[in-house]
Amino acid sequence: MGHTGFEPVTSALSRRHSEPTELMTQKDSKINKLVLITLCLYFHTMIYYSRDDIDNLDKIFRLNMINSCTGFKSANLLATKSTNGKTNVAVFSSITHLGSNPPLIGFILRPTTVPRDTYKNIKDTGVFTVNHITKNQVEDAHHTSAKYSSDISEFDKTELEEEYLDNFHAPYVKNCNVKLGCKFLEEYYIKENDTLMLVSEIMHIYIIDNKIQEKDGWLNLQTAKSVTINGLDGYLSAKLINRFPYARPKKS
Ligand SMILES: Cc1cc2nc3c(=O)[nH]c(=O)nc-3n(C[C@H](O)[C@H](O)[C@H](O)COP(=O)(O)O)c2cc1C
Repeated sequence: MGHTGFEPVTSALSRRHSEPTELMTQKDSKINKLVLITLCLYFHTMIYYSRDDIDNLDKIFRLNMINSCTGFKSANLLATKSTNGKTNVAVFSSITHLGSNPPLIGFILRPTTVPRDTYKNIKDTGVFTVNHITKNQVEDAHHTSAKYSSDISEFDKTELEEEYLDNFHAPYVKNCNVKLGCKFLEEYYIKENDTLMLVSEIMHIYIIDNKIQEKDGWLNLQTAKSVTINGLDGYLSAKLINRFPYARPKKS
């Protein structure tokens, strides 16, 4: 691990880390790794992780790094209601657009080895809502990831409020400026890490203020005050740099 800038220190430590002697425990190895990372950060050297390095990292450190290394993610509250009327709301950062015609979205669901209320409610009722998290909701939105039992609604444990629109079974989240009413279509098992990808259809779109949408249909998510997620616990406001026309190959 470690390249450029401060080669001797990083490579020496790297060798110690990657080739532990008999006397060197796995704990020692992890401590060395942390010392190395701290040194790299202090001296502003480039940090490099090989596939083996990734495997040997501390669990939380790896989780934080891998969750943030693919870039900013969408920040949504996914709200559902069980067949017996109990509501549920949880933060999801993996919701992404799959295609516009038909209007499809997908998201990744963590392994269902523990009870997942969102998943159960979606499978039982076939519907859910996707609500953009806005700047002033981030603390409550994050709290919805706490493991409450099925008989407790996160709406009762936060300031987030349910809102019902056009007789849709699932609640929307009040004060979110962009909200989607969705119908579950299909699930795909991802055997590599025991997760599921759920594919759903957008049935309803609510944009709270017409200033959010421009003439060509584009939603200005900065105007909507929608936030974005960095890793598993960082929430950011986004600032538009520019929009560009449809890109075509250059002539020369
Ligand atoms: C920032 C953030 C993003 C998350 N994104 C997802 C996600 O995309 N998929 C997922 O299954 N869980 C995700 N979670 C975890 C869920 O919010 C958490 O498991 C929640 O308890 C699920 O609620 P439920 O059991 O009521 O369905 C995320 C948690 C946080 C803090």
